[in-house]
Amino acid sequence: MNQFSKTLLITGGAGFIGSHVVRLFVTKYPEYKIVNLDKLTYAGNLENLRDIENAPNYKFIKGDIVDADFIQDLFAVYQFDGVIHLAAESHVDRSISNPIEFVMTNVVGTVNLLNAAKHNWKDNKEKRFYHISTDEVYGTLGNEGLFTENTPYDPHSPYSASKASSDHFVRAYHDTFGINTVISNCSNNYGPNHFPEKLIPLAINNILNKKPIPIYGKGENVRDWLYVIDHARAIDVVFHNGKSGETYNIGGHNEWKNIDLIRLLCKIMDKKLNRAEGESEKLITFVTDRAGHDLRYAIDASKIEKELGWKPSVTFEKGLEQTVDWYLNNKEWLQNVTSGNYQKYYEQQYHNR
Ligand code: NAD
Ligand code: DAU
Repeated sequence: MNQFSKTLLITGGAGFIGSHVVRLFVTKYPEYKIVNLDKLTYAGNLENLRDIENAPNYKFIKGDIVDADFIQDLFAVYQFDGVIHLAAESHVDRSISNPIEFVMTNVVGTVNLLNAAKHNWKDNKEKRFYHISTDEVYGTLGNEGLFTENTPYDPHSPYSASKASSDHFVRAYHDTFGINTVISNCSNNYGPNHFPEKLIPLAINNILNKKPIPIYGKGENVRDWLYVIDHARAIDVVFHNGKSGETYNIGGHNEWKNIDLIRLLCKIMDKKLNRAEGESEKLITFVTDRAGHDLRYAIDASKIEKELGWKPSVTFEKGLEQTVDWYLNNKEWLQNVTSGNYQKYYEQQYHNR
């Protein structure tokens, strides 16, 4: 007899956001069994979950969501009561150099999971498929306005096109097959475990190593930053209380021009590293702009705030300082992810799944 009230599949749980979601669910819901399915690409890292890896309600499985037969088998064995789907290729720059990888994981992988849910869940409306998406599907804003849940989709990068496509498939499976689905579209996350290819951890790593900080174009692009643990809290709320077929925008009311954000980060790092004020700013280097670079993202999060009672809990000043402290206290983590050491280790360990 199963001792757990629910068995949930979380995909991409070894990645940046997924690791915080897995930790929250494993610790907050000891009555749930949490199965973390992750391919352990360059972005997946089990070090992110060391503290909970032996929890009795947690299981890690290495696997690829693009492998349809494997996904069908997994559903048959575990009889999941819900899916929280985060696995994805997530970096815009990589999508520009290798779009097909994004189509495979983000589109085909999502449809494989939907097919397995459709096949195994039949008409069970209690079982929920929750797709984690991005505000980038809405395209770009000018200087005014916010993305709402009704903003038309207008993706510009191969990454956002693949996420928009997967969102459409999730809605199609709700409308066509009656699956209980929910989608959330979140703004830029920051915090511990963020892979140092993305702006904030890349800048922290480069400042630490006195390397140039590349700023695309003039640094005028605006992003709306949310602390990753607040996103994990929002995912908990949407999974449990969101309405089937609905979409919820998640954001931090926290817009920053890239250049202003990096200047603030340089100031914080100068203090923490006992460097002269202004030393890190000298590392700022303006480089060729990203192709198709969206000017501004900003989220209207009033729906999730009003309907589900969620709001961000961490201020940007506090969150950024905590983030810097985390990277300074985890230099080995940084060293290992940038050198690929963890990948080599886990490839050996999970070779014979
Ligand atoms: P990430 O790149 O840090 O992690 C992605 C995880 O998915 C990794 O652990 C990787 O190993 C795994 N993965 C990749 N391909 C896989 C496959 N084929 N099969 C199984 N696992 C696979 O990404 P993240 O930043 O944590 O983003 C997680 C999700 O949240 C993504 O769907 C992303 O689109 C979305 N999102 C991210 C942000 C952000 O700011 N990072 C904002 C909004 C939405
Ligand atoms: O908005 C949500 C999205 O945020 C998520 O869906 C994506 O998965 C996530 O990667 C993130 O996308 P961005 O492209 O906004 O994040 P990134 O950190 O790559 O870039 C943030 C901004 O900084 C963007 O305007 C590009 C700029 N940038 C980025 C890098 C890596 C630079 O100026 N220099 C850089 O070296």
